Amino acid sequence: MNNTVRKEFPENFLWGGATAANQIEGAALEDGKGWTTADALPDGVFGEVSIPPREKYLKKDAIDFYHRYKEDIKLFGEMGFKVLRISIAWSRIFPNGDEIEPNEKGLKYYDDLFDEMKKYNIEPIVTLSHYELPLGLVIDYGGWSNRKLIKFFERYASVVFKRYKDKVKYWLTFNEINVVLHAPFNGAGIQGKPEEINKSVLYQAIHHQLTASALAVKIGHEIMPQAMIGCMIEGGPMYPLTPNPKDMLEMIRKDRESLFFADVHVRGKYPSYMNRYFMENDIKLNITNEDKEILKNTVDFVSFSYYMSYCATADEELNIQAKGNILSAVKNPYLEETEWGWQKDPEGLRYTLNLLYDRYQLPLFIVENGLGAKDELVKGENGDFTVIDDYRIKYLNDHLVQVREAIADGVEVMGYTSWGPIDIVSNSTGEMRKRYGFIYVDRNDNGEGSFNRYKKKSFNWYKEVIRTNGENLK
Ligand code: BG6
Repeated sequence: MNNTVRKEFPENFLWGGATAANQIEGAALEDGKGWTTADALPDGVFGEVSIPPREKYLKKDAIDFYHRYKEDIKLFGEMGFKVLRISIAWSRIFPNGDEIEPNEKGLKYYDDLFDEMKKYNIEPIVTLSHYELPLGLVIDYGGWSNRKLIKFFERYASVVFKRYKDKVKYWLTFNEINVVLHAPFNGAGIQGKPEEINKSVLYQAIHHQLTASALAVKIGHEIMPQAMIGCMIEGGPMYPLTPNPKDMLEMIRKDRESLFFADVHVRGKYPSYMNRYFMENDIKLNITNEDKEILKNTVDFVSFSYYMSYCATADEELNIQAKGNILSAVKNPYLEETEWGWQKDPEGLRYTLNLLYDRYQLPLFIVENGLGAKDELVKGENGDFTVIDDYRIKYLNDHLVQVREAIADGVEVMGYTSWGPIDIVSNSTGEMRKRYGFIYVDRNDNGEGSFNRYKKKSFNWYKEVIRTNGENLK
């Protein structure tokens, strides 16, 4: 008897890369587009809100994908991408967010983009809302705290579903919908620090988003019976800092804070553990019977981003020290971190895949993962500029090996799209020097540079990963 477990990626595994409109397109007001919350966060998610947007900031031109997408798609095609995750900037379609008629120029742009991808057999995965709420909906309505946004979102979703139904099969509703707890302006257009915002206001906004997301699933399935529509969460899992049972309970509490969002999407109703949380925090929500019916429209798959894991502790002192870190999480003494202090944990990805699959029994899609690092452009052997990014290759290799392990564990994984396959503007810090790409973009933090593209060493490595369906991973 041969007891060797086969470790391989399924034949139809969807390899590719992932991007977001506000971090790549630029052309901030071109062809009728309106401002978004991303334009109002020039220094990134945790920076000051600037309304109206500042005169100069990197996302305004980003990497000029709006004009250079043909060149970039060609390079993705050369790497053999099966899929490319993009987001539609809602404000290209409805510039203020509340118009009745869509902006044809915006619609046409994404038509052209999808057609270009098709030339290289690259399937789009489209996020409806990736941290780019039309700023008009913040100024005129107070962002997602206002129930009216459900209707505006429904209108937007139905316009793009009808328009692209023959071009797009995979859809995601809200990017990292759970991160709104830590960055409320970025996620829901609500101003103020998370701890200062009234929790009833915040959870009411979250409820509106969850309802809008389920509504999009409903109308999406009506318009496109073949479509696969998923939710998207930030998937970094919690570990207990010690085996102290109190840490264990704290881990569950923190995990639930995040998983609540996916639970609603998958189960079609609020999980019972939230009752106690709402009661103890005096959170009063307006949830109508109609909302409850809408929430029953559940997703086809669960997608998530994975960059790191976190530790939970019941020790108050340690928690206070951790404040200000990413998600105010306690450091794990067993892990190394990136130049931006994000803890590298490839095995945590296998754990997350197993955790989510055990919980949901739905196909999973890793729609973001990667290493943000400073790169140095050098002359390569053939005289062309390149980056010798062995550190990135190692990071991605180690994570993909763990994805393969999870598949061998029995987890159903649809695909993997690495974050920022071409260098883009960072979301959390608004910088350019934090680079994720297989393709280097000549632009610096002062906004200077030619915007020229150069292949890094990882370009050919990832091409080989896709060509061999992961067989070259070590
Ligand atoms: C995710 C976001 O949080 O992480 C992306 O969905 C973001 O928009 C990515 O870019 C990486 O974060 P950062 O801050 O390095 O750009």
